[in-house]
Order: sequence, then structure tokens, then C-alpha cells
Amino acid sequence: MESARGAQQDETFSPSEREVGVGPWTGPWPEGDLWDPELLREGDRRNVVDRYRYWRHEAIVADLDTRRHGFHVAIENWQHDFNIGTVVRTANAFLAAEVHIIGRRRWNRRGAMVTDRYQHVRHHPSVEEFTAWAHEERLPVLGVDLFPESVPLETYTLPRECVMVFGQEGPGLSEEMRQAAEATLSIAQFGSTRSINAGTAAGIAMHAWILQHAQVG
Ligand SMILES: C[S@@+](CC[C@H](N)C(=O)[O-])C[C@H]1O[C@@H](n2cnc3c(N)ncnc32)[C@H](O)[C@@H]1O
Repeated sequence: MESARGAQQDETFSPSEREVGVGPWTGPWPEGDLWDPELLREGDRRNVVDRYRYWRHEAIVADLDTRRHGFHVAIENWQHDFNIGTVVRTANAFLAAEVHIIGRRRWNRRGAMVTDRYQHVRHHPSVEEFTAWAHEERLPVLGVDLFPESVPLETYTLPRECVMVFGQEGPGLSEEMRQAAEATLSIAQFGSTRSINAGTAAGIAMHAWILQHAQVG
């Protein structure tokens, strides 16, 4: 399991722990700017899909930038929310345009599994600054939380370009964000718990966007 690496920050998995990736390039080296000589020489053990094996980091980000989806995700971070790494990792997997951290700048990168290196992450010190940015970008702000007025995500038509905002464990979405949002959306629940984990909620919401807008296959 990748999570067994814990605080791994250099993006590589050592072969002794898990044989991930590929060894040194065999045969004549490919030519061009895409390729990283060190990876060609030493092998590529990074947490990247096969398509990007041996590519330079900057080349991968540049390629992702040509294909990013129209949705952004944002999460409030007033108390160092531990879900942010998960949100960043999922945003990377579903190719979000950007991830926005609102509140404290620092966040625990552990759960991101170094995916933040390939994801644009922008910080906004306050809800006001975040919403000003969203208005300037003409992006509707969609709060995701279980409020009485929330519309079920399952029946909501998500705009192709939007920013979905998630709250923190405990307090949930701030009142300021609730008021600023164009709409708030809830994920239907059926059991006894009051809510699901914010990282899980973010994954479900991002996938709802994928189901409605992404080209699959
Ligand atoms: C664990 S919840 C916060 C606790 C919640 N306010 C309560 O009263 O139990 C943290 C965040 O996860 C997201 N969330 C969790 N469950 C959700 C659901 N069923 N629908 C929409 N968002 C949800 C929201 O963004 C929320 O702000």
C-alpha cells in the first residue's frame, strides 16, 4: 500500500519496499526535452502513471496543464485540516484546474503522496479574498455541506466551470462561505452518522463533476 510510505516526501518508492515503476532505460536513449537523464539512467520510481515514465517533472506538469478540467476545489483550513492531502491527491487524479486552501497557509502534505508537485495549489488568507478571486475568474462558488437549504448533489447539474468548496471536520463550512456560495450541495446519506469525512465528500463531489462532464475512455 502506498500509504505505508507515510511521510515520504521525495516521491520515490525504494524497490526494497515495493517494486513500483521502472528501472534504468535499456537501449539507446530517446531524444528531446521530455526526458529526464537522471531517470533514464537510474530508473523511475515516482508515483506517476506509465505514460509519464522518465519524463521531466516540468514536462509532466506542462502536459497536464493542456488537459486540465474546468472544476476547481477549495477547502477551508482554519485549524490545519488533515483532509487536505487527500483532497489534493484526488484533485490530481481527476485533473482539477486548481486546489484552493482558504485560511491557514500551512497544511499537512502527508496524505497528498507528493501529488501536490503536479497540482496547482493556491492559497487565499480569507473567504473574502477567495470569493473576490472566484468572481474575477467568473467561477460560481458551490458550497458542499449538509445545510437545510442544500440541493442534493445527485440531482444538481454542475457547471462545467466552477469551484466546489468543502468545510473542515467539526465546524463544517463557515457561515461566511455558506452566505457567499451561489448554491450549497449535499451528498445523500442513509445511515446514522451526521456526516462523512471531508476528504471523502470532496472525492464524491469531484467524481460527480467527472460523471457529468469528463470524456471517459
Ligand atoms: C465532517 S463534515 C463537518 C461536520 C458537520 N458539520 C456535522 O455537523 O457533523 C466536514 C465537511 O465534509 C463535507 N461533508 C461531509 N458530509 C457531507 C455530506 N453528506 N454532504 C455534503 N458535504 C459533506 C462538508 O464539506 C463538510 O463541511
